[in-house]
Amino acid sequence: MDRVKDKVAIVTGAALGLGRGEAILLGKEGAKVAVVDINDEAGKETVEIIRNAGGEAEYWHLNVANEAECKTVIDAVVEKWGKLDILVNNAGIVGEDVPTDKTTEENWDKVFAVNVKSTFFMTKHSIPHMRNNGKGAIVNTSSICGLVGDGELSSYHATKGAILQMTKQDAVQYAPEHIRVNCVCPGSIMTPLMHDRLKVDPQYFEKDLQRYPLGYFGEPEDVAYGVLFLASDEGRFVTGAALPIDGGYTAQ
Ligand SMILES: NC(=O)c1ccc[n+]([C@@H]2O[C@H](COP(=O)([O-])OP(=O)(O)OC[C@H]3O[C@@H](n4cnc5c(N)ncnc54)[C@H](O)[C@@H]3O)[C@@H](O)[C@H]2O)c1
Repeated sequence: MDRVKDKVAIVTGAALGLGRGEAILLGKEGAKVAVVDINDEAGKETVEIIRNAGGEAEYWHLNVANEAECKTVIDAVVEKWGKLDILVNNAGIVGEDVPTDKTTEENWDKVFAVNVKSTFFMTKHSIPHMRNNGKGAIVNTSSICGLVGDGELSSYHATKGAILQMTKQDAVQYAPEHIRVNCVCPGSIMTPLMHDRLKVDPQYFEKDLQRYPLGYFGEPEDVAYGVLFLASDEGRFVTGAALPIDGGYTAQ
C-alpha cells in the first residue's frame, strides 16, 4: 500500500489509458497525484477514482506541447503540495499511420510536439524542483517502437527512439543530483488508443498478436507496475534503463 507514500507525482496524459492506470496505482500506493491532461472530463474522473480508493489527487488542464503551460502547472503542483518527487511523462499520440515517404511535415511536427517536446518541457521545468528536493525520479514513455522498427507509424517510431535517448542522456546528466531517469517500452496495451486502431484496422490485432511470444496483449496495470517500481525508492540503483513491458516482443 505504501510503496510511494507521501511522494508527490505528476502523470501526464492521465485521463485515459496507460496514464490513468499509472495515476491510479501511484495513488493507491500513497502518492499525491497530479493528474494532467487536455481531456478535462476523463481527467477529473481519474481523480475521482483515486479519491474513492482513499488516495489524494487533483486535476490540472495541461497541453504538454506548450512550454509555458508545462511550467505553470508544475509550479502550481509544487505550490500545492510543497515538492515534486516523481514525473511520469506518459502523454503521447501516434499520428498518421504512414511510411516516411508519405509523411507530411505537419504530421511529423505534431507527433514530435506531443511526444518529444512535451518530455523535454516537463523534464526541463521539473528538474529545478527535484534539485530543491535533493532527489527525484522521472519515468518517460518510449515503446517497443523505440527499440525496433516495423512496417508502420514512421514518425511515431522516431519519437519513441528520441525519448529513449533523452532518457539515457538525462540519466547521466542528473545522476550526481540523485535524479533518476528511466523509461518504459510497452508493447501493445489495450487502451483507448489501441481501441481506436482496432476500429480502423480490425485485422491489425490478429496479425499483431502472432508477434507476441506470451500470446496476449498487456493491460494498463502491467505498465503501471513497471512505472511504480522505477518511480519508487525500490528503483534507487536504476537509472538510464529502458524497461520493455512487451510480452517478449523484443526478446526475439
Ligand atoms: N497503448 C499502447 O499499446 C502503447 C504502447 C507503447 C507505448 N504507448 C505509449 O503510452 C502512452 C499512453 O498511450 P495510451 O495508449 O494510454 O494512449 P491514450 O490515447 O489511451 O491516452 C493518451 C492520453 O494522453 C492525453 N493527451 C494527448 N495529447 C495530449 C496533450 N497534448 N497534452 C496532454 N495530454 C494529452 C489524451 O487526452 C489521453 O488521455 C503514449 O505515450 C503512447 O505512445 C502506448
